[in-house]
Amino acid sequence: MQDLFAEQLKALRAASLDRHLREISSPQGPQIEIAGWRLINFSSNDYLGLANDSRLRNAAIDAINEFGVGSGASRLISGTQSPHVRLERALAEWKGTDAALCFSSGYAAALGTIPALVTKNDVVLLDKLCHASLIDGAKLSGATLRVFPHNNLRKLETHLHWARRAHPGKRVLIVTESVFSMDGDRAPLPDLVQLKKAFGALLVLDEAHAVGVIGPHGRGLAAAEKLSDDVDVQMGTLSKALGASGGYICGSHDLIEWLINRARSFIYSTAPPTAIAAAALAAVNFLSSSQGEKRRLLLWTRIRLMRELLSPLTSHVSPSENSGSAIFPFIVGDEQAAMDLAAALQNECFLVPAIRYPTVAKGSARLRITVTASHDEDQIRALCHAIKRLSKTA
Ligand SMILES: Cc1ncc(COP(=O)(O)O)c(C=O)c1O
Repeated sequence: MQDLFAEQLKALRAASLDRHLREISSPQGPQIEIAGWRLINFSSNDYLGLANDSRLRNAAIDAINEFGVGSGASRLISGTQSPHVRLERALAEWKGTDAALCFSSGYAAALGTIPALVTKNDVVLLDKLCHASLIDGAKLSGATLRVFPHNNLRKLETHLHWARRAHPGKRVLIVTESVFSMDGDRAPLPDLVQLKKAFGALLVLDEAHAVGVIGPHGRGLAAAEKLSDDVDVQMGTLSKALGASGGYICGSHDLIEWLINRARSFIYSTAPPTAIAAAALAAVNFLSSSQGEKRRLLLWTRIRLMRELLSPLTSHVSPSENSGSAIFPFIVGDEQAAMDLAAALQNECFLVPAIRYPTVAKGSARLRITVTASHDEDQIRALCHAIKRLSKTA
């Protein structure tokens, strides 16, 4: 058994594609501790700095005191406790949809939802840069899968014509993200909505990296574009800007009832702990408040500074604020060179992950820099100076 994997691991190492866990001995935040070192953390999706916020911590502690730790059973058996119901009501209200359903992770939301919506004779059209959870959900559904080049509407239209011809009367699902997780750019949502309407398709929009960041009170791209009613399935995660854990789907009453009956990752999994639901509810309440909106606008001042300082160093920074996000790719290309640059930055006390194949295409390895509302301006300036200096010598 060991020999079997030893060969494969050797091949991974030889291609600079091996991965390792690092132990963080501190809470999440703009500075974290690894092996006794304090590092400035530009690797986290905790965009609003809520992962260690006292509002969320206290909500979780209160829920533990009231409900205990484990939730005992799956949601349909006896695992649905009051914090789950409160969270789903608050999510639906915040997103402006009829209803919401929570899953134990965003990954589980995708894996359960897509196969509940389409089956063998249907079609899924996926953006090339979609997250693994969406790809895996689409594959699991058994539907015919076609990938369109990233944000390429012309190709998507060609696929839609084909789908209507080759699969008459069948369901066609367009799946994309509002903010792409490794590139930080946005989907052209108004055009996508136009296309999905023209071809009678359904649209699944993963707002994982948009909620908390984009749109009024962080409601996401669909809300920012005033297109919430045109997105059939609004997916998201509670584990990034919302600082907690879990995934969700927002949509119509019928959609949510159907998922309760058909989404296998929801049905056959123990309900998430109530402490997590309570913490996520505290995050939604915070985002809906004026204080939450102030925090989101503070994040945008940090994003603007990062854009200004990184733009001269790389051509991959989005051209305008309206097409950007809190994610900045610094593309290096070669896998080992990206690892070396990340290691050099770590030597200077910056944690910036090198992202490699298979998360991104071979030869497009990059630093993935994320900025949060908790970073101060000096930390952002120091990182950009270090990247400028070290990427020249690399
Ligand atoms: C775009 C996107 N969708 C879904 C997920 C999965 O969410 P979760 O981490 O809650 O499982 C992620 C997580 O990295 C993501 O980036």
